[in-house]
Amino acid sequence: MGRSARKGKFITIEGPDGAGKTTQAEKLVEYLKSKGKRVIATREPGGTALGEQLRKILLDPEGSPVSSAEALIYAACRAQLLEKMVIPALKEGFIVVCDRFVDSSLAYQGYARGIGINRILQLNKWVIGPYWPDVTILLDIDPAESLKRLTGGKDRLESEALEFHQKVREGYMKVREMFPERIKVIDASLPVKEVFERLVAELEKAGILE
Ligand code: TYD
Repeated sequence: MGRSARKGKFITIEGPDGAGKTTQAEKLVEYLKSKGKRVIATREPGGTALGEQLRKILLDPEGSPVSSAEALIYAACRAQLLEKMVIPALKEGFIVVCDRFVDSSLAYQGYARGIGINRILQLNKWVIGPYWPDVTILLDIDPAESLKRLTGGKDRLESEALEFHQKVREGYMKVREMFPERIKVIDASLPVKEVFERLVAELEKAGILE
């Protein structure tokens, strides 16, 4: 089932930690439901029983980062999420809203961790097959600002240095250059309401809300 044979739509939301992805994803799900759409919301890493277990390993503050194993675990979460949730939902005609997906791996593992965007892309092409998102919203913000928004206990990745998060942002911009049609950038330093209006406008332009 390629893009044209899909009945549903696949939307992913991306951005660095603290960009407001989760808030915007929740608002989007409410909005789509209010329009009478059938929607499924999920997130990465996680979203399935196996994925949530792997998430605990990945986000453990005591865990050891920086290895290809990390990229493979994210990819394993993705494979499970696609098989168990995303693909069946798309076949049924649902709109799937996913908080993070492949572009997180490209930006974090591929670029910021230095494994190489193309290596991570190769791995993920195998995992994703034809099920690439129809549209991806990238919430862009200076990490110096977004990290200030994060409150409470920090997970392993959130405690990384500002420099790491600057690299994540750069990584996202490189990924965006590779997929200019799919990835729509929104300035996430704007107020929540305005970010959401722009997000809806992008989805309308992309023909997702018809
Ligand atoms: P995040 O989505 O920010 O969840 P929460 O808001 O609940 O803390 O946490 C996920 C972290 O995992 C985030 O720092 C980015 C990282 N990540 C990767 O490094 N690669 C990936 O492929 C994915 C999906 C996430």
